[in-house]
Amino acid sequence: MQKNTPPAELKPQPASLHQEQDVSLHSLNLKNKRILLIIGGGIAAYKCLNLIRRLRECGALVRPVMTKAAQEFITPLSVSAIANDKVFTELFNRDDEHDIGHIRLSREADLIVVAPATADLMAKMAQGHANDLASTVLLATNKPVLIAPAMNPQMWSHPATQRNIKTLHSDGIHFIGPNAGEMAESGEAGYGRMAEPMEIVGSIGNLLVPDNTPKPLAGKRAIVTSGPTHEPIDPVRYIANRSSGKQGHAIAHALAQAGAEVILVSGPVDIPAPQNCEVIHIQTAREMQKAVETALPADIAVMVAAVADWRSVDEADEKMKKDNGKGPSSLKLTENPDILKGLGHHKKRPALLVGFAAETENLEKHAKAKLKSKNADWIIANDVSPEGGVMGGDKNTVKRLSNSGIEDWPEMDKSGVAQKLVDEIIKHFIIETVDI
Ligand code: C5P
Repeated sequence: MQKNTPPAELKPQPASLHQEQDVSLHSLNLKNKRILLIIGGGIAAYKCLNLIRRLRECGALVRPVMTKAAQEFITPLSVSAIANDKVFTELFNRDDEHDIGHIRLSREADLIVVAPATADLMAKMAQGHANDLASTVLLATNKPVLIAPAMNPQMWSHPATQRNIKTLHSDGIHFIGPNAGEMAESGEAGYGRMAEPMEIVGSIGNLLVPDNTPKPLAGKRAIVTSGPTHEPIDPVRYIANRSSGKQGHAIAHALAQAGAEVILVSGPVDIPAPQNCEVIHIQTAREMQKAVETALPADIAVMVAAVADWRSVDEADEKMKKDNGKGPSSLKLTENPDILKGLGHHKKRPALLVGFAAETENLEKHAKAKLKSKNADWIIANDVSPEGGVMGGDKNTVKRLSNSGIEDWPEMDKSGVAQKLVDEIIKHFIIETVDI
């Protein structure tokens, strides 16, 4: 993590801070960067033709490897024509091994990109298989690897895939996507769409081109909570809510982009962890509280998690039975610790403490009360009535409450809200550090 040397541009310049992953083709220079593109066998393989073209427009040299399954979706002939290179498909090919073997293939690249990364390819990577050219190259490489997963949402959320994702994260594999949306199969929607070619190019740029974006939060440490908590009732049941973690994860990502050291304490979510953040996975409110307190001291804390207010007093050791002869048993609840409130009154209270207030009625009144009772600096309040589609959706309309008043922010997608919040955080620290 970079240390704090306040850059010259430490003046409120929100517009110039919006240098997110959105790359313009003309600004990204990948000249002579060697990218080994492993194309997996999924319908999204067709997007790779566009990806290769975009990469070449940025000056990159793209060497394609195709799995056997990938060749069912697009042909090596078209890939080779667009890449202007030979397509490698076989592990045991005497000509290729003599000319350029799998070890050289894996070592000569600056970056290996797997797109689409199918559930099968990810499982092979997580297990260290080496039974075809793609998996062998991925095991033999000493270069960074970026994967763009694409699969059916059920396959993505399957515990086996989720286990593999965790393993790949801890192996240092970089992820882009998947995105949410319609699947190729009619009527199917959810997480599993491969990231768009330009998003993948942006991510490649982030990995290969030194990051020259301003880092106004360098040297600041931030804790972010995100997602729901799961409060066990018995070994198979739990109390939870519909939080997706999208808003909290977007804030963690935007803080890290601005140079902060970010500790993201996340409940169970189905979305990928943001890059450049330390992620602590927890299940319950009490685990979240412990993780947050262990992460102190911090300059900034943004508590976005939808923490369950209550948990069951007793957690049954065995699955509770419905046929116990006594009818439905009532659930005795007890209150969970309020993590935000705890931080607000903590002796190591972060200099800037931000809470969220999700309400279905009397938004401003409840948010104002929270600002006070939790001793927060700002409350970001949003209406989560079901008709607004905020819970789990991509859009958010919020108000910021502070002791100086209430500000309405326009409707934005969750990454827009995250970026605006981070711009405000930057302004807050700049104004505090400017000599008067
Ligand atoms: O009181 P309420 O749950 O509406 O407050 C919401 C804010 O408080 C959010 O910032 C949430 O992350 C935080 N919170 C918390 N611990 C709880 C409950 C809420 O940190 N137990």
